[in-house]
Amino acid sequence: MAATSRRLEGKVALITGAASGIGECSAKLFAEHGAKIVIADIQDQLGQAVCEAIGLSNSKYVHCDVTNEEDIKNAVDIAVATFGKLDIMFNNAGIMDSYKERVIDNEKTDFERVLSVNITGVFLGMKHAARVMVPARSGSIISMASVASNIGGVCTHAYTCAKHAVTGLTKSLAVELGQFSIRVNCLSPYAIATLMATSFLGLDKETVENKVNLLANFKGVTLKTDDVAKAALFLASDEAKYISGHNLSIDGGFSIVNPSFNLFQYPDNL
Ligand SMILES: NC(=O)c1ccc[n+]([C@@H]2O[C@H](COP(=O)([O-])OP(=O)(O)OC[C@H]3O[C@@H](n4cnc5c(N)ncnc54)[C@H](O)[C@@H]3O)[C@@H](O)[C@H]2O)c1
Repeated sequence: MAATSRRLEGKVALITGAASGIGECSAKLFAEHGAKIVIADIQDQLGQAVCEAIGLSNSKYVHCDVTNEEDIKNAVDIAVATFGKLDIMFNNAGIMDSYKERVIDNEKTDFERVLSVNITGVFLGMKHAARVMVPARSGSIISMASVASNIGGVCTHAYTCAKHAVTGLTKSLAVELGQFSIRVNCLSPYAIATLMATSFLGLDKETVENKVNLLANFKGVTLKTDDVAKAALFLASDEAKYISGHNLSIDGGFSIVNPSFNLFQYPDNL
């Protein structure tokens, strides 16, 4: 088969939370690869600006709070009405609650807010994508997890819990939708200095990058939004045609190592 440089030619993608950060970068990359894009977010001006950057004939912005089923249903229906179908659903929208050292200081309302966006939002995205993908007998559903889907102690309790749940939903849906040739996967990146991370840590972009690089397993490279967008592009494309139920780590080995022994640490002068 001839290689194509436009890996999503003719496909239609809906990306939640694409007004900024990883979602915005993915929307632009998917469009460069030939996809028509629907951006679903709650930041209307930013979302509209991303569409203008992509080109209004290839993209559309929809106001969509992922916790609201009517909004998600509407976004999926608009994708189909505008571009004829839905091939790729990227459930990327997510939030983080503020850091509290002790669980007894965590508020139930904050916990439920994080679960609502990061789990219920993903569930609703999967549900309404399946509604239109099952009759089409094809599709790729990608959801955003995190290193916090594999390990504890790197984010808040609510966020860790929610991202673990995204992997559970991914596996469960991959089982149901496999019979219809619909692939269901998720992504687990290490920390990236988007607005979410800079505001969580209360630090500027450069300081966040320096801090996370210091703690990283993989050295000499800084993880950027386009590294995650490229992994999403792979899962969205036909190159990943037999990959389903997978949680793809983009963490340079961070979640598989306990660095405390430093067994393979070379001396500094090598
Ligand atoms: N930045 C990181 O370090 C990191 C690491 C691993 C995973 N993630 C995940 O990546 C995803 C994107 O995060 P980001 O880092 O690009 O952050 P970001 O804050 O730049 O982007 C998140 C986007 O989601 C949107 N959003 C928030 N609540 C929403 C809602 N209810 N409905 C619709 N849209 C909503 C925001 O408006 C924003 O555009 C999230 O799921 C996050 O948990 C981020």
